[in-house]
Amino acid sequence: MALWGGRFSEPTDADLKALNDSIGFDKRMYKQDIAGSMAYARAIAQVGVLTDAEAETIIGGLQQVLAEFEAGTFALKPEDEDIHTAVERRLTELVGAVGGKLHTGRSRNDQVATDFRLWVKDAMSQIDALAEALQFVLIEQAEQHLETVMPGYTHLQPGQPITAAHWLMSFFWMLARDRERLADAYKRTSVSPLGSGALAGTPLAIDRAALAQELGFRSYSQNSLDGVSDRDFAAETLFVLALLGTHLSRLGEDIVLYSNPQFGYITLNDRYSTGSSLMPQKRNADPMELARGKAGRLIGNLTGFLTTLKGLPSTYNKDLQEDKEAVFDSVDTLAIIMPVVIAIIKTLKLNPAKMRAALGDDLLATDLADYLVRKGLPFRQAHHIVGQAVQLAAGQGVGLSVLTPDMLAGLSDLFTEDVVSVFDFDASVARRAGDGGTAPEAVRRQIVAAREWMGVQVAQT
Ligand code: ARG
Repeated sequence: MALWGGRFSEPTDADLKALNDSIGFDKRMYKQDIAGSMAYARAIAQVGVLTDAEAETIIGGLQQVLAEFEAGTFALKPEDEDIHTAVERRLTELVGAVGGKLHTGRSRNDQVATDFRLWVKDAMSQIDALAEALQFVLIEQAEQHLETVMPGYTHLQPGQPITAAHWLMSFFWMLARDRERLADAYKRTSVSPLGSGALAGTPLAIDRAALAQELGFRSYSQNSLDGVSDRDFAAETLFVLALLGTHLSRLGEDIVLYSNPQFGYITLNDRYSTGSSLMPQKRNADPMELARGKAGRLIGNLTGFLTTLKGLPSTYNKDLQEDKEAVFDSVDTLAIIMPVVIAIIKTLKLNPAKMRAALGDDLLATDLADYLVRKGLPFRQAHHIVGQAVQLAAGQGVGLSVLTPDMLAGLSDLFTEDVVSVFDFDASVARRAGDGGTAPEAVRRQIVAAREWMGVQVAQT
């Protein structure tokens, strides 16, 4: 018989149970559910609903239920609809009818919202630690490659020379924003709905602030209707995780591309590369393809759940039960992909010679225009003249640097002998020394700023 079976004369249909029950996935919130119940038992004891002895009995029983879950000996019964009913059922088996007093003034509606917020908070910390670890290995790799020059791309066409450290650090800042978003969403998740009852609030004079504090929440909700039905925290979490996954997908794409032998810029460690069952020479970056591909399901979880929320009437509706599988899946997805991405970046071998060999003279076209600008020509005209120089070189089938000062002087008399100094990739990156630029000295400062950011972020959480 279900806990709510009083008004029914027939048992629930088996197919309905299969649809309705959430125990299959929400049992992973057992810790949060039991912590919530222990705190709630203390709170209602304070207002006289339980005697101190009854509260002790209930808390002792809950401890035993917890121990059973931890030991893997908790035996589910067919009537266990969800984690809340399962815990209460077992508690009552262990301590007797007094267990039935625990739910006084409480509903599964405020209970599930409480449990899930607690679970999401833990998950956020777990993902944050993974993102932090990825940031550290990016910094460590970057520090090894401050002077390594490679092609930088826009539109996936060679653009300008950059340092490999600068490329790696670009992902550091994406992760920094992801972690800031996580910390921000964490604040709104850390709000206790406990005491909202089914929807209208509690008739008990419980101390909601103390209850919230005991459970590690920063504050408690001010409107019970909102308290039981607010799933913004779940949607926000799904968004933050989807965007984090999107960043990993971009890193994944760069790694896939740059490890292609036609680029050859990087080599994945053997432990993190995969082969082909047919083509013996293959060395695939499967894990980074998965990092790229998994973004799809993270975004799917977000859009799916937002669609569930759209148009829901006030207040709790069973649709909200869809929150958990979406968030669980996004967290699990990142928890499985991120350790591998971290290890890949940590063990990644960069091939500076290959990167250098890929630097074509065209990458210095902007520098050539800058040269004319330094001689007083407006940039727009300089751009045009260098375009002609590129065309001239292409027509002769040579690189820009092969054009002699004389040939260039035919396009503009501002070109003199010293133009040869432009054709230097190291000098090109070194010139971009302003904050945020690719020059080794600028990236050195960038890394100082990154390490500072890491210090502040740790202090916040
Ligand atoms: N399993 C439910 C959920 O995850 C718990 C709340 C059920 N409340 C209810 N009134 N049926 O949302």
